[in-house]
Amino acid sequence: MEAMTFVLFGSTGDLAKRKIFPALYNLYVDRKMPEAFSIIGLGRKSFNDATFQTYVEQSLQEFSRNTPNDRKTVDAFLRSIRYHILNVDDTAGYQELLKLVEQRESELNIPQNRMFYMSVAPEFFGVIADNINASGLGNTSGWKRLIIEKPFGHDLESARQLNKHLSKTFAEEEVFRIDHYLGKPMVQNMESFTSANPVIQSLWNNRHIANVQITASEVVGVEERAGYYDHTGAIRDMVQNHMLQVLMMTAMTLPGGHTADDVRSHKKYIAKALRPISKEDAHKHIVRAQYANGVVSGREVQGYQDEPGIELGSNTDTFVAARVWVDDFSWEGVPFYIRTGKRMKEKSTRIVVEFKNTMQNSEICVDCDGQPNMLIISINPEEKITLQLNRRNVKTGLLEPMTSEFVMGTDHDPEAYELLIGDALNGDGTFFAHWDEVELSWQWVQPILEAFADNSLPLHDYAAGTYGPAASDALLAEQGFRWLGDQ
Ligand code: BG6
Repeated sequence: MEAMTFVLFGSTGDLAKRKIFPALYNLYVDRKMPEAFSIIGLGRKSFNDATFQTYVEQSLQEFSRNTPNDRKTVDAFLRSIRYHILNVDDTAGYQELLKLVEQRESELNIPQNRMFYMSVAPEFFGVIADNINASGLGNTSGWKRLIIEKPFGHDLESARQLNKHLSKTFAEEEVFRIDHYLGKPMVQNMESFTSANPVIQSLWNNRHIANVQITASEVVGVEERAGYYDHTGAIRDMVQNHMLQVLMMTAMTLPGGHTADDVRSHKKYIAKALRPISKEDAHKHIVRAQYANGVVSGREVQGYQDEPGIELGSNTDTFVAARVWVDDFSWEGVPFYIRTGKRMKEKSTRIVVEFKNTMQNSEICVDCDGQPNMLIISINPEEKITLQLNRRNVKTGLLEPMTSEFVMGTDHDPEAYELLIGDALNGDGTFFAHWDEVELSWQWVQPILEAFADNSLPLHDYAAGTYGPAASDALLAEQGFRWLGDQ
């Protein structure tokens, strides 16, 4: 890996503390950082290098998977860090920053490879990119790259504007858009799950699969993020990005020996093949809902409307379920159901593949409608693959389900941010959202946003601590299915 400078905007923020510094440190401990590197933290708070290094060390103590107890290693890591006070719209401040970056490059004798990470609110993306350009920070004799976080736009138009703005400074191959779901090991695993397993690959089509269900249910409510969430809702917060990315990873069919470009182009192919849902038809395929009060993990919690900071009479969706069709010959007739919500019964992120029931009317099958042959790919909190098969009970001579589990992952495995930052440092964009995918996802979501804004479909409510409204079950029942894997 090439030596580089890591310039972190928003270095005193929550994400930097919880995820970014621990990720850099763990990469360092695992010898996945370059031989020489410089980290420059930026923010408005008044730290100096020493107090900032202490602050970073505290974040490692609290959040790093590798406990920072080896003094020599911790000190060597912290020594690479400098802090610089910067107001993101202060043009002169960027000249100072440039001097600091160059000074560190010459002290460490490293090339002008610069990784810019914008861990700031999206309204600052544009001004920072402009200043990187105008100050000469982006004018390097090495490479320059940009890592940004969601939300990437608020709708199709604002996403396009933002991309246009950023592309004045960064070429598409220099931009690494983080969707942390693409950093989850089980989601990454989908890249090779089919191509490396002929047994799975041969089943991955409409001859054998009845439907696919992607769930991301959460127990938490809106927490302290009312200001953001009340104008975002589950559709923008989860569906446009995470849910559609997982759908793309599931529906793509890659040849063996594929490249990073193959992954992206197959995902784009799926994103293009998503059958549009018009604003007028949204009510037929989409269920939106908001949590009411209820009991979560044995504790009474208030409804969304009563959460602090939520606008009176807010129509924001905290739950969305959708039926999505992928217009490709191998997925013809296979509905993909997606479902996500806050304040649901359990935290579960999973992909369930239900296979066609060949025994439906067979006499030896006990309750076959209830026990389909299925594959459950659990992403979070556990990482495992469960295969539910049918077997013959020798005593009764009847068929009954049996399951087989393949557990992956341990507590000590690298986290999403570690994997993604490591990839970006290596210039590997496989698990980042390409602009084409982002634009196509917004394009698919846009009519649904408009239907929500017009209230042209009902806003159901659901008791906190449940799996969502009855309408979500009815959506699947229309095709004779039900949500599988709920506890
Ligand atoms: C974030 C959303 O992108 O993903 C949050 O903004 C959500 O609202 C979170 O809670 C869920 O992530 P995870 O990794 O816990 O499933």
